[in-house]
Amino acid sequence: MNEKTDDIILAFESSADETSAAVVKNGNTILSNVVATQIASHQRFGGIVPEVASRHHLEWINRVTEEALTKAGINDPERQLSAVAATYGPGLVGSLLVGLMAGKTFAMVHHLPFIAVNHLAGHISAANFVKATVYPALAIMVSGGHTELLWMEKENTFQIIGTTLDDAAGEAFDKVGRILGLKYPAGKEIQEMAGHGKAVIKFPIAHTEDDFDFSFSGLKSSVLNYVHHHEQVSEEFNRNDVAASFQKAVVEAITKKSRLAIEKFQPKQLLLGGGVAANLALRTAFENLSKEYKIELTEAPIKLSGDNAAMIGAAAYLNYKQRLFAPLDLNVDPSLNFARM
Ligand code: KG4
Ligand code: ZN
Repeated sequence: MNEKTDDIILAFESSADETSAAVVKNGNTILSNVVATQIASHQRFGGIVPEVASRHHLEWINRVTEEALTKAGINDPERQLSAVAATYGPGLVGSLLVGLMAGKTFAMVHHLPFIAVNHLAGHISAANFVKATVYPALAIMVSGGHTELLWMEKENTFQIIGTTLDDAAGEAFDKVGRILGLKYPAGKEIQEMAGHGKAVIKFPIAHTEDDFDFSFSGLKSSVLNYVHHHEQVSEEFNRNDVAASFQKAVVEAITKKSRLAIEKFQPKQLLLGGGVAANLALRTAFENLSKEYKIELTEAPIKLSGDNAAMIGAAAYLNYKQRLFAPLDLNVDPSLNFARM
């Protein structure tokens, strides 16, 4: 009965404001990836409202699951699927619970093994849809909630070598967006404004020396001071220049620490993932870094850099290969992270 030649995984993602289900073959081929975004419901509050998010996940989870299965041609899950996976952390507790319960229930009903996935490993694994990784690798994970430099000695191992001491990179984009009167999430719009501006304003960014950690809250404060000062004295200022100068400072901070890590750890491969990995200025900076150090770079495809279940399916496959299954009484872990090196 189980003469499968391919390993097909049904994956769920619901850690923040996207409800998603995907069907992924052999960890690198997307058969379906359905994402229902609730951004519009949170925009008027300027960020995610946890209660609203959980309710939306509940409303959408069955629909995205049915659509993902139909699109992928899965009509007999028990025969066609090898496993079911879901994100169990980090994220919002009420949101995570919806996807995790859906995944565990589906696995139980269809007698399939269940795989629990770390959302951050998911973001990094989005690169697997482009090509297979060579190890050891340095992963740069930049999202709305996290900014981490991760050492991957071998497949499916992650150690933090640097992290943010305050705001995450995406959070800084969103906060600066708010200062500039933009809608949440503001990363993409800041990137567009930056394209029409010049990076002529010097926004200081805290650089801790000799380590790989980041700090973005001082940068956000200096943008706030700049904008407030100009508004108070009714002085004109170019908002596009503010966007360009801020974006440049963020990109420089991330590449500076990545450069230090490359020199110390000598990876064979660079991986770039997370929502902020969609940023074109950041991608260009990493493409240059890759050429300069002659280290191959794999970037998460732009449309897979934000939250989606396909990346969870890609990460789940690495666990599947090692038969790392989770018990069905597993709970969510909202502050799940990797260990420091
Ligand atoms: O990974 P993600 O979808 O969610 C989390 O796991 O946090 O990341 C969302 C973050 C938001 O802060 C958003 O503003 C940022 O990614 N983002 C961008 C761009 N597209 C999304 N930041 C900068 N430039 C972009 N093009
Ligand atoms: Zn994410």
